[in-house]
Amino acid sequence: MRKKMTNIKVALNSNMLVSCAADLFVASAQSAIKTRNRFSVALSGGSTPRELYARLATAEYSTRINWKAVHLFWGDERCVPPDHADSNYRMSRESLRVPIPEENIHRIYGELAPEFAAKKYENELRSFFKETPRFDLILLGLGDDGHTASLFPDSPALKESTRWAVGVEHTTPPPPLVPRVTLTFPVINNAREIVFLVTGRGKAARVSETLGSARTPCELPACAVHPANGNLSWLLDQSAAILLEESQQP
Ligand code: 6PG
Repeated sequence: MRKKMTNIKVALNSNMLVSCAADLFVASAQSAIKTRNRFSVALSGGSTPRELYARLATAEYSTRINWKAVHLFWGDERCVPPDHADSNYRMSRESLRVPIPEENIHRIYGELAPEFAAKKYENELRSFFKETPRFDLILLGLGDDGHTASLFPDSPALKESTRWAVGVEHTTPPPPLVPRVTLTFPVINNAREIVFLVTGRGKAARVSETLGSARTPCELPACAVHPANGNLSWLLDQSAAILLEESQQP
């Protein structure tokens, strides 16, 4: 199946970036619910997506999605309790305040040991998808070391070709320096739609390296994100896009 092109959108400011991301999320959800009566989405963590989740919870957006048909998963999780300040689950639930039935929340049990949590998450994925998970939408961020989800440079998890979720040690920056659980590339690259949401000048070098021209092969984990049969979009603010060459600009 032909790989589709990478869409790159650069927003004038963060408000427009969040609106663009929210519109894309709504479109993906409406299409999935109309076609398959459900919408499976893997949320990204960190700090960038918080504004997007809060925007989706506003009346302007929340009324456009049938939240009872939405199933929330996470692309990765820090191995901390769900009420911990570093928990991606906590950040998401605090900002995405929408009426999703509790049975549709498929969190990663960060309070468990990484490998045990990964196996539990994989069982949850299997009972929902029955076969290799094909998410309607996976949201991703980009670390300033080029990681995405919790797939860090030089990690053995980058080479995982059969398991859907794995536990990873994480002892060097970027923080928090806690073990993680992450989806693997076989799942990420099986998605119908993948959206990177990246802001800030601190990410500009990695954005340029990741979206760089073919002449400079990229080794960063984010460079291995290419849906086999789906759409890939990068939503950037001007600061994150500032080092993109003319040829890479949308
Ligand atoms: C995590 C994330 C991670 C994040 C990037 C960017 O658990 O930390 O899933 O992949 O998306 O590190 O994080 P910021 O949005 O905080 O810059």
